[in-house]
Amino acid sequence: MRVLQNLFDNNKRWAAKIKESDPDFFAKLSRQQSPEYLWIGCSDSRVPANEIVDMLPGEIFVHRNIANLVVHTDLNCLSVIQYAVEVLKIKHIIVCGHYGCGGIQAAMGSEDLGLIDNWLRNVKDIYRQHQVNIDALQNEKERVDLLCELNVIEQVANICHTTIVQRAWKAGQELTVHGWIYSIEDGVLKDLDVCVTNPEEISQTHRIK
Ligand code: CO
Repeated sequence: MRVLQNLFDNNKRWAAKIKESDPDFFAKLSRQQSPEYLWIGCSDSRVPANEIVDMLPGEIFVHRNIANLVVHTDLNCLSVIQYAVEVLKIKHIIVCGHYGCGGIQAAMGSEDLGLIDNWLRNVKDIYRQHQVNIDALQNEKERVDLLCELNVIEQVANICHTTIVQRAWKAGQELTVHGWIYSIEDGVLKDLDVCVTNPEEISQTHRIK
């Protein structure tokens, strides 16, 4: 007996619906993918990349982890970025955080959550850097949401600091890194206006000659 039959039923209907509107859709996709966007988002089930921007399979290359982090020693995320930039030649990297992120909230607390505390240490470091401004806010929701935004901004910088992105820029490849945030409460995306398009816009300390 097949388990999770409802998911297989859903899949059958979904594939049939797409085929109905474009009979060659899957045949075309099976030959190649040429997405223009790399999405780095949170694993949160309420923030699905393709659905939010209403895009079909084949249009976005996606990497998701808890709290949408780009950590310099994370081979998984770096491999995704390298493949997306060097092989797929995507034109935009989007870091998309979301308000009310449980990972961010956990990083602001001091509870022992086990293994994940090591991952969230990266967020705690950002909290520490901005603690005066964050703690000055009156309510917890505002404090979490501010750190959600600051975290996105930091991850945009982390992406720009990678050798992968800096090499692409040096080679004249058109590549823009964006920082966005999503509201689970109304389904609306906000651009944080921290878009970076060339090495002149990143800190001197991280710039590679
Ligand atoms: Co989250």
